[in-house]
Amino acid sequence: MIPGADVADVRVPRALRRWAGDRELRPVWRNEAGGLTFEVVGVGAFVKWAPAGSRLRIAEEARRLAWAGRHLRVPAVLGSGRDEDGTWLVTSALPGRSAVDPRWLARPEVAVRVLGEGLRLLHESLPVAGCPFEWSVAGRVERARAGAVADGRADLLQRVAEFPGPPPHDRLVVCHGDPCCPNTLIGDDGELAGHVDLDCLGVADRWADLAVGSWSLEWNYGPGWDGAYFAAYGVEPDAERIAYHRALWSLGD
Ligand SMILES: Nc1ncnc2c1ncn2[C@@H]1O[C@H](COP(=O)(O)OP(=O)(O)O)[C@@H](O)[C@H]1O
Ligand SMILES: [Mg+2]
Repeated sequence: MIPGADVADVRVPRALRRWAGDRELRPVWRNEAGGLTFEVVGVGAFVKWAPAGSRLRIAEEARRLAWAGRHLRVPAVLGSGRDEDGTWLVTSALPGRSAVDPRWLARPEVAVRVLGEGLRLLHESLPVAGCPFEWSVAGRVERARAGAVADGRADLLQRVAEFPGPPPHDRLVVCHGDPCCPNTLIGDDGELAGHVDLDCLGVADRWADLAVGSWSLEWNYGPGWDGAYFAAYGVEPDAERIAYHRALWSLGD
């Protein structure tokens, strides 16, 4: 999805309208679960809103942003709120555009390098020791199972039940948890501006991120970019772990 491409008909939730007062809220993103992100124009902030009852994890994201911000360039948490319609989180603006902004879709060689380098920096900057969050295979499989039950998805429940255990760890790091291209921001100088969307951040094997980060290149830039991505990260592709972690991602987490 391209920010701005399908947000023309977005209506500002009532609570955000009240919260914003006379400041302009510019819609920048709508996710598949009905979550919305707005730029608070002119004040260097973004606000992310999740409808009540959705599985979007605003409180989890706020905690992870606050922790990660001690080690890495991520948005600062400026505030949050909740009413009967939804929950929201206000963060400071990072000085960059998403890696899927039209500017970077036109220059995938720059975006792919920043995505690979950026993920490496994230993995090297966040300390596993003392990280209070995990993104374990067992926890993710359990969440997929609970989601399948809640949605009455017998097919998914069957896939979850048959899902194999993970290959041995390559390297435990603090993973981003949603390393898709839109969650890396790039400055107009073509360098990393920071990472957003950390609600799943936690300790896991680094291939949990690498497998999905490399996959998402295809969705946004077309095939053939994974070699440049792995080179920018500084790792040789590991076919077995890539296949495993893509299958795990497909369980819907
Ligand atoms: N603090 C921020 N600074 C700059 N851009 C942001 C910020 N927060 C969100 N964005 C923009 O909004 C988009 C959606 O935010 P994100 O947290 O990824 O929501 P979602 O969980 O719906 O994907 C991001 O891809 C990014 O372009
Ligand atoms: Mg996102």
